[in-house]
Amino acid sequence: MKAKHTKIRITDTTLRDAHQSLWATRMRTDDILKIASEIDEAGYYSLECWGGATFDVCMRFLRENPWQRLREIKKVCRKTPLQMLLRGQNILGYKHYPDDVLERFVALAVENGMDIFRVFDALNDPRNLESAMRFVKKYGAHAQGTICYTTSPVHTTANYVKLARRLKSLGADTLCIKDMAGILTPGAARELVGALVKALPDVPVQVHSHMTSGMAAAMYMAAVESGAGCIDCAVSTMSSFSSQPPVESMKAILESEGYETGLDSVRIARVNAYFADLKKKRQPPSSAKVEPVDAGVLVHAIPGGMISNLRSQLAQQDALDRLPEVLEELPKARADLGYPPLVTPTSQIVGVQSVLNVLSGKRYSMVTDETRRYAAGYYGATPAPIAPKLRKQLAGGLKVIDCRPADLLEPGLAKCASELPAGTIKAEEDILSYALFPEVALDYFKWRKNGGPIPADEEERDSGLGARVSGLGAGDSKPATRNPQPETPSGTPVLAPLNGTFYRSDAPGKPEMAADGAAVKAGESVCVVEAMKLFNPVKATAAGKINFLAKHGQNVTKGMVLAVIS
Ligand code: CO
Repeated sequence: MKAKHTKIRITDTTLRDAHQSLWATRMRTDDILKIASEIDEAGYYSLECWGGATFDVCMRFLRENPWQRLREIKKVCRKTPLQMLLRGQNILGYKHYPDDVLERFVALAVENGMDIFRVFDALNDPRNLESAMRFVKKYGAHAQGTICYTTSPVHTTANYVKLARRLKSLGADTLCIKDMAGILTPGAARELVGALVKALPDVPVQVHSHMTSGMAAAMYMAAVESGAGCIDCAVSTMSSFSSQPPVESMKAILESEGYETGLDSVRIARVNAYFADLKKKRQPPSSAKVEPVDAGVLVHAIPGGMISNLRSQLAQQDALDRLPEVLEELPKARADLGYPPLVTPTSQIVGVQSVLNVLSGKRYSMVTDETRRYAAGYYGATPAPIAPKLRKQLAGGLKVIDCRPADLLEPGLAKCASELPAGTIKAEEDILSYALFPEVALDYFKWRKNGGPIPADEEERDSGLGARVSGLGAGDSKPATRNPQPETPSGTPVLAPLNGTFYRSDAPGKPEMAADGAAVKAGESVCVVEAMKLFNPVKATAAGKINFLAKHGQNVTKGMVLAVIS
């Protein structure tokens, strides 16, 4: 039995991760403000209320200013520190941003009320964390260095301890073990937390997990017994499923073992009653159908959100029946790609690539632009090296780099400011919103100025990957037998590699890739099929004169003849 009266601190995730996991991030600022003072008084260590997907969703779907949300929460929550999830050099987006953008973002977040920054990188590459950690410290906030937890031959306790030491040297005030998929077992938590506490006794360890596989509450207990000082929970209505464990239950479990939590049960009950009521309005119909425990995670370790993405991508391709093959392919693709943890944005990169590996019939015959950039080093160092031959193939002519990716970026703030039309912005924060999500922010600024309806709820969890595919012999795909073939003129056909939309150019306003009737060379990109948010260049299957049969903007099905080369 542990020493009595040890205090275990609890971070409340209700205002960020919980509704991102359960309500597709649809909690509104007004929803939060009505209950914020009650949460503030409940005795939590911190309130995670910003970052992750909330920023994008605020502007894109809710027509709210995320900075305004932060300021208003801060006005009400005077007692409990506010916490955010910061994706290292990716800030809150899906690519690396230059240091000047990152620094100004952190400075303004602190100025608007942020206290604790949980800084993570999908690859656990410390070079992607160093600037973020430095800026958080520079502006006087709390820097929490994060270990993204996953399992693989290279994700050993010894390597995690090495990473933790690096995070400490970057200024980490505390450490977080981020178990985004809910795959950390009690036994593994005991080993990992124990090793971290032993190696770095003066750096408190916090544990973040999801109830997806049903293990998180038991794992938290093991972590606490091994020396973790803080855990992440959500109020029970906003807990469980793919969200955090329920705070009421964790409080009871901890107190039964002699730990103190300092939480006020009466206030928590009031907060819970509030969200039980709000749930009727805000919970999307699709999440009401989710199973309480996804035991499959125990087998394949794929986060629940990722499986629903794979399902919708396959449905678009009329290939939902191939999900078992994709689930089998995914761990293989992940191993090929150096075992990245599956978290934004690597979860999308590995997921989409696995779908393409299955649908194309030949692994890596179609490669997304994100996979190319990932393999070439533009996301950082992969946890394990990619086999040199495969790395070269995947990079597809892109220059392979081994430096910190952000070192290659020009400063971006002044450029962003100069791009904004006069009269668009109201404050410097708007420039940062634009730097992170240009189209979304412009759309929001326009709406703010002119008013208009709130956009229809598309329930899109992983918006914005915007990946593009480059086909390596993509046109070679065999036609699907279920698609009737139209009568075609004689010659070598160019077939649609996927279901999607046919385009003659690879970007709006760009010239056609091949003019109708032009002479083309075999292997040259001649047109595009957009599918799964990817632009897939289709290559000429022979040399000769090309005649297009499909029309620009037309929906096409896999195997359909797009053009004939004679
Ligand atoms: Co989480």
